[in-house]
Amino acid sequence: SILIVDFGSQVTQLIARRVREAGVYSEIAPFQSAEAAFERMQPRGIILSGSPASVLDADSPRVPQVILDSGLPILGICYGQQVLMAQLGGIVTLGDSGEFGHAVIEVSDRCSLFDGLWTEGESHQVWMSHGDKVTALAPGFRPVAASPGAPFAVIADDDRRYYAMQFHPEVVHTPDGAKLICNFVRHVCGLNGDWTMAGFRAAKIEEIRKQVGTGRVICGLSGGVDSSVAAVLIHEAIGDQLTCVFVDHGLLRAGEADQVVGLFRNHYNIPLVHVNAEALFMNGLTGVTDPEAKRKFIGATFIDVFEAEAKKIGGAAFLAQGTLYPDVIESVSFTGGPSVTIKSHHNVGGLPERMNMKLVEPLRELFKDEVRALGRELGLTDAFVGRHPFPGPGLAIRIPGEVTRERCDILRKADAIYLEEIRNAGLYDAIWQAFAVLLPVRTVGVMGDGRTYDFVLALRAVTSTDGMTAAAYQFPGDFLPRVATRIVNEVKGINRVTYDYTSKPPGTIEWE
Ligand code: XMP
Repeated sequence: SILIVDFGSQVTQLIARRVREAGVYSEIAPFQSAEAAFERMQPRGIILSGSPASVLDADSPRVPQVILDSGLPILGICYGQQVLMAQLGGIVTLGDSGEFGHAVIEVSDRCSLFDGLWTEGESHQVWMSHGDKVTALAPGFRPVAASPGAPFAVIADDDRRYYAMQFHPEVVHTPDGAKLICNFVRHVCGLNGDWTMAGFRAAKIEEIRKQVGTGRVICGLSGGVDSSVAAVLIHEAIGDQLTCVFVDHGLLRAGEADQVVGLFRNHYNIPLVHVNAEALFMNGLTGVTDPEAKRKFIGATFIDVFEAEAKKIGGAAFLAQGTLYPDVIESVSFTGGPSVTIKSHHNVGGLPERMNMKLVEPLRELFKDEVRALGRELGLTDAFVGRHPFPGPGLAIRIPGEVTRERCDILRKADAIYLEEIRNAGLYDAIWQAFAVLLPVRTVGVMGDGRTYDFVLALRAVTSTDGMTAAAYQFPGDFLPRVATRIVNEVKGINRVTYDYTSKPPGTIEWE
């Protein structure tokens, strides 16, 4: 495996992606705990990430000495290059201008990173983002590529198998970047790229069996992809020692509850408790209009219901969750000064501590699309694993103002038509998330010979890679008018449909 030491770059996760795309397992460790991760993982190579810090600051992070003493290959990226130079005897100076964005480098010498890829004299596009730069190399290093702003754009010490670059190979704006990283992990580190989903599945099943023994496990199913994949995997490992609890808050999309219950009970034969708590949630939401108050009530009530069911089942020592890698990574952040804050991990609202349960989180090393691949490996259909994300508070945060059962029913119908049209048009997979929002606004319309005075519906569809930023999806010209007509004709209570063109930022994906 490869250990990635995170110095706080915005794009460290992309390094892990690129390593895994090369068929090699990798983990990210923040620099503060890199030594412990190194001892635990026994990696075959090290990658040092970028950072917003400057090596010229006395308090800036350093590479743990055990890593430098290990004799393992190292790839330093941006700050990773500078810190390597600073620690091995080179010189880094404050950049007067820096380089940000596209740059062209010229290859001046051969090196293992370039094998089968770049040769001397060629020019290649890369993505730079740095202020400081290396001005004198540490002993043993030689330059192998240069840009106008960075004479040491790529440097190499073949004897020690140390390589470093000023640009970012992990971002897509460096077209050959993934291949450079692949060359490092395969050629330089000698890893053969045999990390596959089938292998991961088998290893995880062993791991779950070892962790759980003969104990009982409870898994909260949300209907989403992550918890479903976790449940199917755990069931494969320990069979009926697993019980799933599906808390149905009545805020799901049309047909969703039946789909989940059918899949688990009938297809996978997994013991499932289906708790219909719609009345409890609807009563509690009466009169609640503040978005945060809605979210807090739903979150707390969800945990109460789940806890009560878990107690009824009794005797479970483990709680399973579909926590993903992006939720787990301690992202390193700099708060301006030398002090460093670590983002707190998220879990289900302190439930494991409250109930004295241990966590089983088999997906905690995976990214979203890897979870989808694992789901397919486990026999879930493409249609199931490819579903758009759906928020925990469900339709409640898509109904600004008061949430009532009647409004949920109206929204469910309209949302189902919108998604049916998107699927029929073959656009579902091109969109990150598409949904309808029922506005607490009524407007006048005319249908037949009569006047109507009904609600307005907003449609939203966005593209995104991680939900952190998003752009409104541009539908083909006749698509939205067709959907609007169908919804107004078929859904009683709606007489006007609008489309939300706001990107994120400044908007968010959900309306509340
Ligand atoms: P926003 O609205 O913040 O949403 O742009 C970003 C992504 O997160 C989803 N989302 C949630 N998911 N529980 C969840 O599990 C929540 O409370 C929640 N709120 C928003 C949202 O659907 C989008 O994919």
